[in-house]
Amino acid sequence: MRKVFIIGIGAGNPDYVTMQAIKAMNEVDVFFFLDKGREKDDLVNLRRTICERFIKEPSYRVVEVESPERDAGAEYKSGVHAWHREKAQIFGALIANELADNECGAFLVWGDPSLYDSTLRVIEHVLAEGLVEFDYVVIPGITSFQALAARHRITVNAIGEPVNITTGRKLSEGLPDGEASTVVMLDNGSALRSLVNQDIDIYWGAYLGTPDEILISGKLSERIDEIERIRAQERARKGWIMDTYLLRRAPRA
Ligand SMILES: C[S@@+](CC[C@H](N)C(=O)[O-])C[C@H]1O[C@@H](n2cnc3c(N)ncnc32)[C@H](O)[C@@H]1O
Repeated sequence: MRKVFIIGIGAGNPDYVTMQAIKAMNEVDVFFFLDKGREKDDLVNLRRTICERFIKEPSYRVVEVESPERDAGAEYKSGVHAWHREKAQIFGALIANELADNECGAFLVWGDPSLYDSTLRVIEHVLAEGLVEFDYVVIPGITSFQALAARHRITVNAIGEPVNITTGRKLSEGLPDGEASTVVMLDNGSALRSLVNQDIDIYWGAYLGTPDEILISGKLSERIDEIERIRAQERARKGWIMDTYLLRRAPRA
């Protein structure tokens, strides 16, 4: 039976790779690298570095394919479903054609595979559609918001309070009531302005765990101009940006 590892590699620093991930990587015959867009080269390079650094006997193969882009013009959820189906065809073909029956393949997932990543859904599609038979194992990784919290030296939740993890798209609809902390990922930079009149602390991080890492924290109203300026500047310099942030509403008196 073919075996596929879905390995969380952490969100940027090769030192985030866990011992469990290293153990799994050393069993792998074929790594599948799927990336897209302008960040592609940097992200593929990090995966290569991780393989080179942690695999003892480099007899593995790497198969690199361009990941399809989501149709940004389509209605969001139906667009995402269509995109997953398209990726399932690609994953199915990779597993069927690039792995022999007793071989082991792996997808190296940025951060942790459970959070805002399509790999597990796509794998389920491949199996549900009977494209190829295989067993799969998921290895957790350090997610970007854990890296963010560690670098700012903060807890993610306020004492005894919940945590909301959301996207920039959803944040535009407002923060939940109460003192909850909100972690925001996948923001195109447009969501924060709508909150600027509220008493909120922000802990912002870009390119966490990498040599380009930038950290900013303080009152949102006092930091927003700097965050927007640096975001635009870095996006222009590197061609892409990955940022994530935690918002915490000041406790009511
Ligand atoms: C497609 S999601 C993948 C999340 C990933 N599975 C994780 O566990 O962090 C990509 C988003 O994660 C966040 N992100 C991932 N890596 C990051 C990093 N090194 N620095 C800052 N944000 C990061 C950004 O919000 C980015 O838009």
